[in-house]
Amino acid sequence: MKNNKNSKVDICVVGAGYVGLVSGACLAELGHRVVCVDSDPAKIKMLEKGVMPIYEDGLESVVKKNVKAGRLHFANSVKAGMHHGGRRAEAVFIAVGTPPREDGSADLSAIEKVSEDVATNMTDYTVIVEKSTVPVATCDWINKTINRNNSRHLPFDVTSNPEFLREGTAVRDFLKPDRVVLGVSSPQAEALMRRIYKPMKGAELVVTSVKSAELIKHASNSFLSTKISFINAVATICEKTGANVEDVARGMGLDRRIGPAFLKAGIGFGGFCFPKDLEAFYWLSSQVGYDFEMLKTVKNVNERQKMWLVKKLEEELWNLEGKTIALLGLAFKPETDDMRFAPSIDIARELLKRGAKLRGYDPVSQENAKKIIKGIYFAADAYDCAKGADCVCLVTEWHEFAKLDQKKLLSLVKHPIMLDGRNLYDPAKMRSLGWTYMSVGRP
Ligand code: UDX
Repeated sequence: MKNNKNSKVDICVVGAGYVGLVSGACLAELGHRVVCVDSDPAKIKMLEKGVMPIYEDGLESVVKKNVKAGRLHFANSVKAGMHHGGRRAEAVFIAVGTPPREDGSADLSAIEKVSEDVATNMTDYTVIVEKSTVPVATCDWINKTINRNNSRHLPFDVTSNPEFLREGTAVRDFLKPDRVVLGVSSPQAEALMRRIYKPMKGAELVVTSVKSAELIKHASNSFLSTKISFINAVATICEKTGANVEDVARGMGLDRRIGPAFLKAGIGFGGFCFPKDLEAFYWLSSQVGYDFEMLKTVKNVNERQKMWLVKKLEEELWNLEGKTIALLGLAFKPETDDMRFAPSIDIARELLKRGAKLRGYDPVSQENAKKIIKGIYFAADAYDCAKGADCVCLVTEWHEFAKLDQKKLLSLVKHPIMLDGRNLYDPAKMRSLGWTYMSVGRP
């Protein structure tokens, strides 16, 4: 095995999902030699052929560039990933899934399995890096698990390096982060983590204990969810008082202590991170004896907000039985194919329960949506979706919906009613075109 004494680090990334694949490709882009591991052979085969298993802006070109440069490789097992091409991984990033259990806690069995595999395949000092979102103290469990299976008593350290990647801009977020959080437990681990991020010029490194790093992730995502639920609650008050939530958010956001980001009212947050992380943080707080009621409220406000469209539809159309509703956009947010915890799922379920006939369209996540939302017509495009509809609902603010020919759309619908769940359109313009138009928190 070759020794790794230069500034480039040999890295194994376990889990080639959104986080793992983006992190692996970007670590290779920083100049390191990376092997991405996944237990799904089909996924590895696809990647070896240059086919991306996920849709993520800019990912394909970073993957292809680094494969070509010989910096990015793929393997089917932790063993093969840690010992690849005659080299040994100095750092192993764990980026496997931590799905939510019924009680809201995170299922960490995949992390335990990877920790066992890492322990049995280490041949020298190794830094194990938690990348998945995990409850505080997961690091302690990884430590214990590795110790138990580390029959040769090799030295190692476990560090926490949480990800803050947004789907759709994940590659950019990785390479140009607001900050990089490094939770380390020894100077040796800190030195290696600093070596990994050294090529990322100008990045703000926040070096903390492992537990603080784990908590930074929990607290950041929960705080962002809180901001969204807060502005959505304000939007409800705006609707009742005639104020405009966009003006309110602008006025609030200019205060530097508040900031303008994540104050966009709409039909609630979805995706694989926010709902899951909120649950996990609440569960963790309960475990340590603190009832973090605020998080419960954030979740409740979001659940209520997801039903905004259903409520407005009933106000406009009275009985929904037999009425045709067009849902424009199904992904949990634009520019992603991800349907996980998308508000569209709950909205479609509620409308179907009330006997409505649904037509849905999403520019990219349609195939994923078909697997989750049953009993609806999937349209060929936005115009086909609106055909014969009693009401058109904008669920996800895809860029292409902003450019729709509204006159054409109007000529296709049964009634000119538009409910804009993402405040994409200009109310005055829509009304002048002939739409009966309603949006979230805007008069
Ligand atoms: C999020 C975090 O931003 C990221 O740091 C973390 O690592 C993973 O979770 P992501 O789930 O990709 O990223 O989506 P994001 O862009 O943050 O949006 C999450 C949800 O909030 C979406 O459903 C979006 O529509 C909603 N949202 C966001 C709002 O409703 N209003 C806003 O102002 C911002």
